[in-house]
Amino acid sequence: MKTLIIYTSQTGFTKKYAQWIAEKVSGDLLDQKDARKKSGEFFDEYDAICYGGWAMAGSIVKSKWFLEKAADLKSKRLAMFCVGGSPSDNPDVDAYLQNALTEEEKKYIKLFYCPGGFNYENMKAPSRIAMKMFTSMLKNKKDATEKEKVMAEKMSSSYDISDIKYIEPIVSYLEDAGNEKTEKDVE
Ligand SMILES: Cc1cc2nc3c(=O)[nH]c(=O)nc-3n(C[C@H](O)[C@H](O)[C@H](O)COP(=O)(O)O)c2cc1C
Repeated sequence: MKTLIIYTSQTGFTKKYAQWIAEKVSGDLLDQKDARKKSGEFFDEYDAICYGGWAMAGSIVKSKWFLEKAADLKSKRLAMFCVGGSPSDNPDVDAYLQNALTEEEKKYIKLFYCPGGFNYENMKAPSRIAMKMFTSMLKNKKDATEKEKVMAEKMSSSYDISDIKYIEPIVSYLEDAGNEKTEKDVE
């Protein structure tokens, strides 16, 4: 049973989750920048493939690349995880996760969410500027709700809400690929 974890990370949260998962399932770990250079045969040797990308303005970074690849890998166990700055019980998370995959893709890819946080020290300038604009827009909004005010305050400095416990459902799902294989092998 071989598992591959591919990730894209700007400030480190998605990379940390990818490392936790890879360690737990004894899988291989690859940055998307390196994965995209690999030929089709490279992916053949894996039973399960998992892609992790961070949330940016309601979409999952580089998910288009993985979804295109995944269409040719349907026989494998496929998973995706998204790492965002919102806590997992934020209803906005559900809304954008719902739209991340088509109905067809949902049949062969399982999608998970892991809360990350904000790390302004590691953020690239364009992201930092975008976040500054977003938080000041929220702060100056005349009819801002209490929730939006709290969110703007929280997002104006770095915080970390990541936790290794969020990898548990992802790990169980990926490890099932091994059980299925073993059952088939026994037959
Ligand atoms: C420009 C920008 C847009 C973002 N948009 C969202 C978003 O729509 N939803 C969300 O939950 N987090 C959003 N975030 C927060 C990131 O997803 C979060 O900081 C994540 O932990 C980054 O992962 P990384 O450390 O792997 O780069 C955004 C961050 C930036 C910089």
